[in-house]
Amino acid sequence: MRVGLLTGGGDCPGLNAVIRAVVRKGEMVYGDEVVGFLDAWDGVLERRAMPLDVHSMRGMLPKGGTLLGTRRGSPYDHPDGVERVAATMRDMALDALIVVGGNGSLTVASNLHRDIGLRVIGVPKTIDNDVVGTDITFGFNTAVQIATDAIDRLHTTAESHDRVIVVEVMGRDSGWIATHAGIAGGATVILIPEQPFSVDDVCDILKTRHQRGRYASIVVVAEGAEPVGGTMPDQEVVRDAFGHVRHRSVADRLAPEIEGRTGFETRVVMLGHIQRGGTPSAYDRVLATRFGLGAIDAVHQRAWGNMVASINDEIVQRPLSDAAGKTRPVDLSLYRDVASIFFG
Ligand code: F6P
Repeated sequence: MRVGLLTGGGDCPGLNAVIRAVVRKGEMVYGDEVVGFLDAWDGVLERRAMPLDVHSMRGMLPKGGTLLGTRRGSPYDHPDGVERVAATMRDMALDALIVVGGNGSLTVASNLHRDIGLRVIGVPKTIDNDVVGTDITFGFNTAVQIATDAIDRLHTTAESHDRVIVVEVMGRDSGWIATHAGIAGGATVILIPEQPFSVDDVCDILKTRHQRGRYASIVVVAEGAEPVGGTMPDQEVVRDAFGHVRHRSVADRLAPEIEGRTGFETRVVMLGHIQRGGTPSAYDRVLATRFGLGAIDAVHQRAWGNMVASINDEIVQRPLSDAAGKTRPVDLSLYRDVASIFFG
């Protein structure tokens, strides 16, 4: 078969391991030709692609990022985008397309399967771990380790200066990274999008802890965490040079409130894209490899419209439509019954 592959959405450690696994099994076991589209759907629309073979995969396993490049955006953003996808598949004589992506790219893949019968197989990826239909996505384990290492380091400087440090981690819609890294790093409080927080409650936890003689505190906050209405001043609207509204980060808004209400000196650390960069953990390399092998098997089973998934540590197939347009919230029992026991 001739199989196309693209990586879409935010990059994530383990993407190259997926590509390597697809190419390895595709070429060596099935005799496939694999073609990689550059820059996600842009490459499909503009027919920018490169041949992928076992030889060209040398050294890719430990490399972060994606050798194919990635973009956000979708064929549905263009009036003739969907027809151009169909035309590329036809004119490049492709039998299948493997889409390695997060919620956005998997939704697009699902819609293209529904709208034009695209012969597509999905592979879920995101450091956020919030794809519905799989227990875990690769990239998450690496991101949690990076965030945990950072929190470990912040403890000693916070303790030396008797400070509160508010660490903001990624997670627009879900608090998976915050919850896991917060538990692993011994956070004083963890704030997640699934559980709106009261600033007064956060300050009470910090004050009680400090009354017990502990000074330094680490507050881990997911970027999408929101205060309960009215408990933190509304953010002022800041506009950039183009007039676009720019939101201040939740950590930047929360830190002055903590300092003002408790009197404890407070600093902010934004981990940002450090969480996504660099080499994947061993766990993510193995999961990404298993997903890649599962994806090329799914192509040969003609399981169009499905994605590979890990359920109870087994690689299975799930309909893309199960994941489309949704995000998987953090397990609240982990937050309430494990993480919160250590707050304060
Ligand atoms: O989707 C993964 C993610 O890392 C989110 O946690 C984060 O909000 C977003 O990507 C950042 O995206 P960008 O790279 O476009 O700034």
